[in-house]
Amino acid sequence: MIKAVKGTRDILPPSSTVWNEVESITRELFRTFNYQEIRTPIIEETALFARGVGQDTDIVSKEMYTFEDRDGSSITLRPEATASVMRAYIEHRLDQAPGLQKLYYIGPMFRRERPQKGRYRQFYQIGAEAIGSESPAVDAEIIELVVELLRRVGLTEFQLHLNSVGDANCRPRYVALLREKLRDVAPRMCGDCQRRAETNPLRVLDCKVPADQPIIETLPSIQDHLCEPCRTHFNAVRGHLENRGIPYEVRPRMVRGLDYYMRTTFEIVHGGLGAQNAVLGGGRYDGLAESLGSKVAAPGIGFSIGEDRLVMSVEQEHPDAHKAALDLYIAPIGAAAELHCARLAQDVRSAGRSVELGLDAKVKRSMELANKIGARFVLLVGDNEMAAGRYTLKNMQSGEQETVGRDQLIPRIE
Ligand code: HAM
Repeated sequence: MIKAVKGTRDILPPSSTVWNEVESITRELFRTFNYQEIRTPIIEETALFARGVGQDTDIVSKEMYTFEDRDGSSITLRPEATASVMRAYIEHRLDQAPGLQKLYYIGPMFRRERPQKGRYRQFYQIGAEAIGSESPAVDAEIIELVVELLRRVGLTEFQLHLNSVGDANCRPRYVALLREKLRDVAPRMCGDCQRRAETNPLRVLDCKVPADQPIIETLPSIQDHLCEPCRTHFNAVRGHLENRGIPYEVRPRMVRGLDYYMRTTFEIVHGGLGAQNAVLGGGRYDGLAESLGSKVAAPGIGFSIGEDRLVMSVEQEHPDAHKAALDLYIAPIGAAAELHCARLAQDVRSAGRSVELGLDAKVKRSMELANKIGARFVLLVGDNEMAAGRYTLKNMQSGEQETVGRDQLIPRIE
């Protein structure tokens, strides 16, 4: 039997209802913050991610789906979309457009990770990027947007973690210091840390192995090694967040797994998610445009929400989120009633109400089915009802039953 490829999955009803609901709330919220949608291709030249996300990151070095196209070029299924959005920004000279470019996207990403709860090889992101300014006010606005998004979809149990990873001036100095400290302690750490101490010392801070935690505590903190402009920027971001009433926690050891970050970085975690508890991550990437070959600077900041994890958190906080609201089940009794009911269904649907038009069946069977699929009301229509022009309407929540004329039907179910 052919099954879905490992690490991929089908999103079925009723869960797909929650996905749609989350996406429609999201699109509406983006509109109110004046963000517009961008759709970039799923496939890109491999070099885009190698240069943008970084050759030494886990994503690029071991998780990408890369293949050689028939003309010999190297193509990759996008593992994330920030690099793609920046490519589009440069390619279409969006820097010439007035004001900031505020763009959002919703779509699938691909990473060949070890699948587990909340981690898939095809997963979905809802992301946004604001390109064209270094201002800390932009950082605060994008964080405000994403926090509001989580609230609007109904989440309460989440925390915002904030950090600054410095810039091309102060970070290399901090990394050198970290590397030096690690020379002494890394041999007592896990195998991954020993390797990272050489290749990418920042990633050591991200190690989850319990035995390594006391050692990590002793390592220097980037917060103590920011240069003056980065310190000022970070303090300004904090001030803007406080002004907007957004609670956060500074996490000096939070490092993000992509190389383009500069200054502000953030993550939001949700208690109900287990080991893969980051619902979203984001940050500033002021040097990304230049690393993709742009002559013009294009400082930006953005986030990507793991939509799979977002939906999981919503389902966990609201177990009733699935209840697809079917307004009316119309139950025809007899062949003539089937024809009559089809026209009734047209009326109710044009009034914007959802209708499941049943097939001719015994009253008992129709009732059972209507109950199982969660209809709010059932309308019974047989020969007598058609002759009288009055139908039996049952409220499935209260159990009450009444006879209604055609013109009363829609007001009754509303
Ligand atoms: P990221 O931290 O790699 O950042 O991914 C963002 C979010 O995507 C994660 O917090 C997680 O919720 C979700 N995610 C990542 N990998 C998986 C997976 N294998 N399965 C399920 N969910 C996953 C980025 O992608 C950056 N582009 C964020 C950004 C935008 N930075 C600036 N702008």
